[in-house]
Order: sequence, then C-alpha cells, then structure tokens
Amino acid sequence: MQKHHLSIFFIFVFGALGGLLFGFDTGIISGASSLIETDFKLNIEQTGFITSSVLIGSSVGALSIGSLSDKFGRKRLLLFASILFLLGSGLSMVATGFISMVIARIILGFAVGSASALTPAYLAELADAPHRGSLGTMFQLMITLGILLAYVSNLGFLGHNLLGIRDWRWMLGSALIPAAILFIGSLILPESPRFLVEKGRVDEAKEILHGLRENTDEDPDKELSDIQEVANQPKGGLRELFTFARPAVLVAIGLMLLQQLVGINSVIYFLPQVFIKGFGFAESNAIWISVGIGIVNFVCTILAYKIMDKFNRRTILLFGSIVMAVSIIVLSILNFTLSVQAAAVPTMILIAVYIFGFAVSWGPICWLMIGEIFPLNVRGVGNSIGSAANWIGNFIVSQFFLVLLSTFHNNVGGPFAVFGFFAIVSIFFVIYAVPETRGKTLEEIEMEMRRGENTKKSAEN
Ligand code: GLC
Repeated sequence: MQKHHLSIFFIFVFGALGGLLFGFDTGIISGASSLIETDFKLNIEQTGFITSSVLIGSSVGALSIGSLSDKFGRKRLLLFASILFLLGSGLSMVATGFISMVIARIILGFAVGSASALTPAYLAELADAPHRGSLGTMFQLMITLGILLAYVSNLGFLGHNLLGIRDWRWMLGSALIPAAILFIGSLILPESPRFLVEKGRVDEAKEILHGLRENTDEDPDKELSDIQEVANQPKGGLRELFTFARPAVLVAIGLMLLQQLVGINSVIYFLPQVFIKGFGFAESNAIWISVGIGIVNFVCTILAYKIMDKFNRRTILLFGSIVMAVSIIVLSILNFTLSVQAAAVPTMILIAVYIFGFAVSWGPICWLMIGEIFPLNVRGVGNSIGSAANWIGNFIVSQFFLVLLSTFHNNVGGPFAVFGFFAIVSIFFVIYAVPETRGKTLEEIEMEMRRGENTKKSAEN
C-alpha cells in the first residue's frame, strides 16, 4: 500500500463509500424503529415491515443493476445509486406516516442493493493484483464503519429533539452526509478500465490504468494487453453465465447465502433484544451493547484489511468458519446447560469471538470474491446474482430469528444451534467449492476458469 499514492487510496475510499451507506441504512433502524412506532402509532407488523422493506428493496436493486452496469459502466451507475441514496435518506427523514416511510425505505434499499452489486466489481477492476485483497476489503470496512456510525448516531440523537425536530428524523437524516459525499465522489471517480476496454474505449482505459499504476511495480501496458485478450474472447452474453461461468455462479451464491446463514445479522440487528428478553438486561443498556458489537466488528475488519493479501483467501475463510462454528456451538451448549445468570457473561465473550471469526474472514471475503470470480463480459450481472443471494439470505435470517428465539422461549442457544450447523456446512463448502484467487490478476482467474471448463468438456467427449 505504501507504494500507492494517497490520491489512489482515496479513490478506493470514495469508491467503497456505498458500503458505508449500506451499513448505516441497515443499522440505523434498530435504534429508530421503536421511536417511529410510537410517533406513527404503528403495530408490530408495520414496524417489522419498515425494517425489512430495505431488504426487499435491496434484493430488487441488486438484481436489476448488474446487467445495466455491463452496459452503461460502473461509475455512471454508482452516480445513479448515490442519487437514490440522497432521495431515500431525505424522504425517510421527512416521512409523515407508514406508507411514506415504507416508500422511502424501499428506495433506500434499492440504492443499498445497487451499491452492493456495483462496488465489489468496481474495486476489483481498479485494483492491482497484489493489493486487490486489502483494497477490496475496503467495501466491508465501510459497511462495518457505517454500522458503527449508525449505532453512535442512535446514541447521540436519542432523546434530543434538536431545533424542534424529532430525534429519529435526525438519525435517519444523518445518512444525507455520506450520500452527498458519494454523489460528489462518483462525479470525479475514474471509470473502470476493464469496462472501458470491453466497450472498445482502449485509449481512455490506458490513461486511467497508467494513473492507477503509477508508483507500483505493475506494468500497465502488460495489464492492458491481458485485458484486451480477455475482452476478445468469444462472448455468449447471458448464456455464458450458465455455461463456463456456472461454477462462478454457484460459488457466488453459496458464499453469499452461507455468509448470511451463519447468522451474523441476528447479532448486528437484534442482539440488544436478545439480552433484554433472554437475560433480563435493562433497555437503557441495549444501545451500549450495540456500540460494543459495532466496535469489535469494525476493529476486526481493520485486521482483515491488514492480512488479506498475506494469506490465501481459502485459508482465511476456513479459519473464520472454524472459529465461528466452535464459538456458537459452545454458546449454544452453555445456554442449554447453565442458568440464565451464569450464561450471560460467557455468551457475551463467545459472541465477541464469533464476530471476530466473521469479521476477519467471511465478512470481507465474500464481497471481495464476487468481484473477482466472474468473467469480464458478465461480471456485472454475476455480481447482481451474488449480492441478490446475500440480500435474500439476510431477509430470511431477519424474518425468522425472532420467531426462532421465541420458539425456544428466548433461549439464544436455539437459533444459534441452527447457525452452528451452517457454520459447519461452510467449512465443507470452502474445502470443496471455493477457488483461490489471491495474487492472480482478474484475467488470469478468468483464463484459468475457461481452461477448467475446456478440460472438463474434452474429458466428457
Ligand atoms: C457483511 C454482510 C452484512 C452484515 C455485515 C456485518 O457485509 O453482508 O449483511 O451486516 O457483514 O459486518
């Protein structure tokens, strides 16, 4: 990283800002929802729907944006997403009732989903191979920073109706600041050189690549000719996704579903409720529990940023799966065997270990890898499928966690036993399905996959 210009570092920070809004907009509602419920006189189902409407919008946004980004470019659509972020944040701040809030949250969700489908590919396509791991981790780092800022904003605004405006309106409206920065950023960010080559705009691509690779050991001309070679491969368009890119589709869907099914968002969205309902904690302490989680999550993701290019992705994923599986299975056993009082402190420690396991591995790597494993001409649409799988997994966990918790009479051991099962599945998934991408250029990864498919075809003949 030292070799990169500061300005290049900022390109990645700006490029990943969609992640900050992703984290902020999904995290902020935990503190705001009960206030909105009281003000708008909502029932529990309506409040639940305000929370989950973002996830519905995200699934739709993720699915629809990818093929557009293969057509119109990553940068232009990031700009479009930033406008939606501004619109959604503004509308949710001034919403006057249930319907207008749901509309605002769906628009926000659409923006979040779009950012999650665009950013991984954009960052992967700008980065040089030796630093692509840490630069790609920037997206997850921004997500975790966004979650932390949301918790802090909840804490800061709660009970303060500044200028006569309700606290929750300030909480939701504070997203306007990062949205405005993303908007300005996307006006000045460079377009992805790989997208430009794919569209035949080689001179522009060359200029951007030279700028990006200045002060690194990478040779931009060699990189350009490799990209051209890949761009010249015969194209099957969407059909390609289900032929030689099929392994990538399966890996992306598997990674993304498992990333959610290990249950991370039960902790990110609902842990305060678990401690209130399951362990009898006071409501006033709940927000501090959230801030604690946010800090552990963010700090461990900084660690991931540091190690991402030093170890193989598969090794890190395996490490994370094992840490998560052991911590949540022990947590589950303790909660079924110990008294509620005796289980509270070990549960807290084990959850911190679990977040550590997730944050250094599955958190960043899944987003990183969907940007890496798809061939150039279907990269956008491939990313769409991967991130839509993520949002659908997120929706399932968010919908069923509280139901599962009450089925087990508020014993957190119940839902965590289910997450433990998926953590074990994730170990086998890494061993048998996930390819290694560290240190290879995107073009090398693509050529390897093409060769893999050719070898399979000739073996079949
Ligand atoms: C990943 C997940 C997201 C989760 C976050 C927590 O980005 O995709 O759903 O909230 O990690 O750090």
